[in-house]
Amino acid sequence: DKGNYRHFMAKEIHEQPEVVGRTLAHYLDLAEGVARLPFELNFDPKSLSRVTISACGTAYYAGLVARYWLERFARLSVDIDIASEFRYRDPPLPEKGLMIVVSQSGETADTLAALRYAKEHGQHILSIVNVESSTIARESETVAKTLAGPEIGVASTKAFTCQLAVFACLALALGRARGVLTREQERALVAELIAAPGQMAEALNREAQIEPVARDVARATSVLYLGRGPSFPLSMEGALKLKELSYIHAEGYAAGELKHGPIALIDYAMPVIVLAPPDASLEKTVSNLQEVAARGGHLILIGSPRARHEAAAELAGYIEMPETVAGAFSALVYAVPVQLLAYHVATFMGKDVDQPRNLAKSVTVE
Ligand code: F6R
Repeated sequence: DKGNYRHFMAKEIHEQPEVVGRTLAHYLDLAEGVARLPFELNFDPKSLSRVTISACGTAYYAGLVARYWLERFARLSVDIDIASEFRYRDPPLPEKGLMIVVSQSGETADTLAALRYAKEHGQHILSIVNVESSTIARESETVAKTLAGPEIGVASTKAFTCQLAVFACLALALGRARGVLTREQERALVAELIAAPGQMAEALNREAQIEPVARDVARATSVLYLGRGPSFPLSMEGALKLKELSYIHAEGYAAGELKHGPIALIDYAMPVIVLAPPDASLEKTVSNLQEVAARGGHLILIGSPRARHEAAAELAGYIEMPETVAGAFSALVYAVPVQLLAYHVATFMGKDVDQPRNLAKSVTVE
């Protein structure tokens, strides 16, 4: 049931404050303001030195965002690869290490094969899945469920942000267990997480500002997304959403890599969408934005008023985000305008966003 929405995708985008809130409530002790995993781990988190993550598509991008959190808050190095590569690499894995697989459907063939490979190599398997009765869930030692509810739209939206929510809580819980985070640090980070659903609702309330930007992007044949830190994988997720829904070619790139090649592409025909939350890398991202501006680029900024002010460049489009969306978990909230933009470009172009051509919701073949 689409409710009052034209598409399942729109409904699912709008459900995010609720389902992310529900997911956070499942993995946080809201009264104490700390992370609380609803399952026991069969190993001592202190014994880990690294974790391995594998997944496909959007779920893989959730893992890439989580790498920043696991490294920073739990001091765990992260080896992450797409499942179709991981399983054939014959990767050496640490003794009794931790493998995290991420899947909305829990049926993705390559992700399942990566899980089985890791199991054969003695890894503890933790899966972050949305469908609890799925094969991946059944074959996992520990299941961390996302409480997104059924996702019908082929493009993953609410499952992605719920995966991020689970990863964020996991990073904080492991950080505490490993003696990396003090209670005080953990409480401050949990407070940021608790604020996220409200901020997502605020981002959704600003949906009207996306439409003129979407009409502009709909004219393009190629689009570049740029970001740093967690906004780098989010830029790849934005590019994936745009290409699968609107069939416009798009790429996500680390903003710092711009000058190592893609800057040659810059002209006014190619929109460059810069994700610039007010985090530690804002200044660097802004200087990359200015490199694009100096070459006559077609700039679209997704950022707070401070980012716009510091950019001091002529923008073809601006999607304003609240200044309060700052800190380590801003990707959770910036996912909203990224999804809405792809949705509006595609619907403006008359594409079927719930059933994009050539795509299936669950990829059970290799
Ligand atoms: C993109 C999308 C796909 C899936 C990928 C993995 O919007 O939906 O990239 O994320 O096929 O699917 P799951 O998460 O079911 O393993």
